[in-house]
Amino acid sequence: MDSLIVEGGAPLRGAVEISGAKNAALPLMAASLLAYSPVTLHNVPSLMDVDTMMLVLHTVGADVIRKGNTLVIDPSNFNIPEAPYNLVRKMRASIYVLGPMVARLKKAKVSMPGGCVIGRRPIDLHLRGMESLGAVVDVSHGYIVVDNPGLKGARFSLEGPNGSSVGATCNTLMAAVLGEGKSVIHGVAREPEVRDLVDLLNEMGARIEAQDSTITVEGVRELHGVEHSIIPDRIEAGTYMAAAAITRGDVILKNCHLPHMEAVVGKLREIGLEVEPVVGGARCRCNNGLLKPTNIRTLPYPGFPTDLQAQFTAFLSLIEGNSTVTETIYPERFMHIAELARMGAEISLFSATATVCGVKNLSAAPVMATDLRASAALILAALAATGKTEILRVYHIDRGYEHIEKKLAGLGARIHREG
Ligand code: EPZ
Repeated sequence: MDSLIVEGGAPLRGAVEISGAKNAALPLMAASLLAYSPVTLHNVPSLMDVDTMMLVLHTVGADVIRKGNTLVIDPSNFNIPEAPYNLVRKMRASIYVLGPMVARLKKAKVSMPGGCVIGRRPIDLHLRGMESLGAVVDVSHGYIVVDNPGLKGARFSLEGPNGSSVGATCNTLMAAVLGEGKSVIHGVAREPEVRDLVDLLNEMGARIEAQDSTITVEGVRELHGVEHSIIPDRIEAGTYMAAAAITRGDVILKNCHLPHMEAVVGKLREIGLEVEPVVGGARCRCNNGLLKPTNIRTLPYPGFPTDLQAQFTAFLSLIEGNSTVTETIYPERFMHIAELARMGAEISLFSATATVCGVKNLSAAPVMATDLRASAALILAALAATGKTEILRVYHIDRGYEHIEKKLAGLGARIHREG
């Protein structure tokens, strides 16, 4: 298993290109199954999760060709209504084929996603969406089995106990677009990745209107192929901003869309960083050493994203004073704290709130990545720590960050991979 070796201490400086958003690419790849002719997606990041979704699409009968960051997905032979356990257990987002299967093949058998290191991740809202549209859902022997006797427009809410669900919104939308009549869906997720899916579907011929937390879908008979470019990855951009911040550096982020990052940019400015738009992207720099502690609460978009919680916790651990980080989306998503503590961070956890008492230095230590964003947090801590940190199990990072060590090395980081 590969590990990353990071020698800390160098402030990051220079420019980095932000890739296409993983969490937009995955549902948009699945949505391509809804068309009767090929869909071309540009700006698709080269990641393990994208490879897994390509395999999922092959498994259900679609042809996928990749040329660099472009995918051509031909759904003409999409005719297998089953996503088996061995794929879904590799990646939860495989469940995105559920909506297209129900809509086009009139039935679906998709393995239930299992446990997840970031906490409990139920799928009741995905099933609520299908049932509200008139599908018949049965869960047995570890599989979700859905029968579509003819989906009909309906008015319902997808709001869950922790707010809106990105996955349930995308799946329900993909089922509803080929249904009959009008659906009005309240409590939907407003994440830019969901809006990218809405844009793609509308370009394919769907009739969807998204406004705040309500989506209205007017069912159409068929959808056609189009060319579409995936939005920039706001979580990757936020990670590089946090990397600039924790090393007290100065980084230009190319292909970064600041309007998708208001909560994150607001926090960085409040802490004392300068973040400003530049042509084609943004610049994040640390102009003075006096950074202020802060309180962060993760929330559905447009709130502060849970997918940047771990990285910001690492950053706050090097700011003098007490900060708090409250996780409302995945209350157990704090696996990185124990590893950061091994590097000298002082963080205590009570319920879903971490209190971070800033320290002057972090020191290198062997640490273990537990999931994608926790891995990113450990890399950030290592970039600022004294000495050489070895981060084990970095396959997690390859699921969601394109060429991370190359991009960081381009900014002056001393980082390499060992096999
Ligand atoms: C997406 O997961 C992202 N994954 C996650 O990114 C991200 O953390 C999450 O949204 C929240 O922003 C992809 O886009 C592939 P949710 P998803 O359904 O769709 C509860 C990363 O690091 N819920 O929006 O699975 C759920 O427990 C990953 O890139 C229900 O109660 O998340 C959570 O509290 C990890 N019932 C909240 O909703 C359901 O049926 C939001 O989850 C579904 C979700």
